[in-house]
Amino acid sequence: MYAIQIARHGGPEVLSVREIPHPTPGVGEVLIRTVASSLNPVDWKTRAGEVGPQLPATLGWDLAGVVTASNHSRYRPGDQVIAVSAQIATSRGTWAEQVSLPARLLTAAPTTLALEDAGALPLAGVTALHALSRAAVTDGDNVLITGAAGAVGGIAVQLARHTGATVDALVSHPEHLDAARELGAKDVRPIPADLPRRTYTAVLDTAGIDTCPALVPGGRYISIADPLPDVRGAAKSYVQEDQDHLAQLAALVDRGELRLRIAYRYRYPFHEVRSAHERFEAGGVLGKILLTF
Ligand SMILES: NC(=O)c1ccc[n+]([C@@H]2O[C@H](COP(=O)([O-])OP(=O)(O)OC[C@H]3O[C@@H](n4cnc5c(N)ncnc54)[C@H](OP(=O)(O)O)[C@@H]3O)[C@@H](O)[C@H]2O)c1
Repeated sequence: MYAIQIARHGGPEVLSVREIPHPTPGVGEVLIRTVASSLNPVDWKTRAGEVGPQLPATLGWDLAGVVTASNHSRYRPGDQVIAVSAQIATSRGTWAEQVSLPARLLTAAPTTLALEDAGALPLAGVTALHALSRAAVTDGDNVLITGAAGAVGGIAVQLARHTGATVDALVSHPEHLDAARELGAKDVRPIPADLPRRTYTAVLDTAGIDTCPALVPGGRYISIADPLPDVRGAAKSYVQEDQDHLAQLAALVDRGELRLRIAYRYRYPFHEVRSAHERFEAGGVLGKILLTF
């Protein structure tokens, strides 16, 4: 079977599709035939050498796929599942035709989406939910989300709205204003300097922009990006493998309360992974880029 691996760090040219042995599921593990995975910034950062595990490594942090063998009572062959796998920490990359993962990383895929499209949910979704939990956003909050047209930001806008909070947003281009409004953001701006001062009780930064002047004194400032501003109370949120969060997100999708934005124009078969990385790194894409297997 084939997997997308890197044996050294560098540009997209270091990505190679390599034949590797089929994985065998261990105790408590489930074997999955991968249908789709998504491109996330961590993938190109790992490839470029900014972060990462020992090489050679199979890349990829999430998947949607079909169970083909199971050593866990909860899953049976034929089940459609999604998963997040913390590839940097565990070296269990998901960009392979077959992947064996501990059952605790899986949850049932949403039933109202094509399984391929469900590949857009896991990492971005769990990151957004975890960060909003860290920010303890509730219905009384006035929230600012930066990078709101991006994968994590776009999901975070919807999740924050779902709590009843008021949500404003910052995007990178004027062309992305409507994208954030469609997801539920009220006041959307493309220029950080235009943000109102001392207005937000919570800020979620997904774009690495210092918007501290917009925070009310004592407000919560959670960032998933770098750099973290040097302000009291600012904290970084790191995504975790979290089956419960994944299940909550799948349920929201199935209830029609969470929409995934997918960049259908930029859906790449896995052997075109170099082109996928090039497109992703160029920026400006609205929606998740999927790799299909
Ligand atoms: N801490 C964690 O656990 C964790 C987990 C996942 C992701 N991350 C990090 O979080 C960041 C976002 O991830 P993602 O998956 O959402 O990436 P993404 O889909 O590329 O979204 C990032 C968004 O931010 C926008 N942006 C960039 N510069 C901006 C600016 N100056 N003002 C407003 N918007 C701006 C981008 O617009 P353009 O495309 O037009 O540039 C894009 O819409 C990345 O740095 C990623 O590495 C961290």
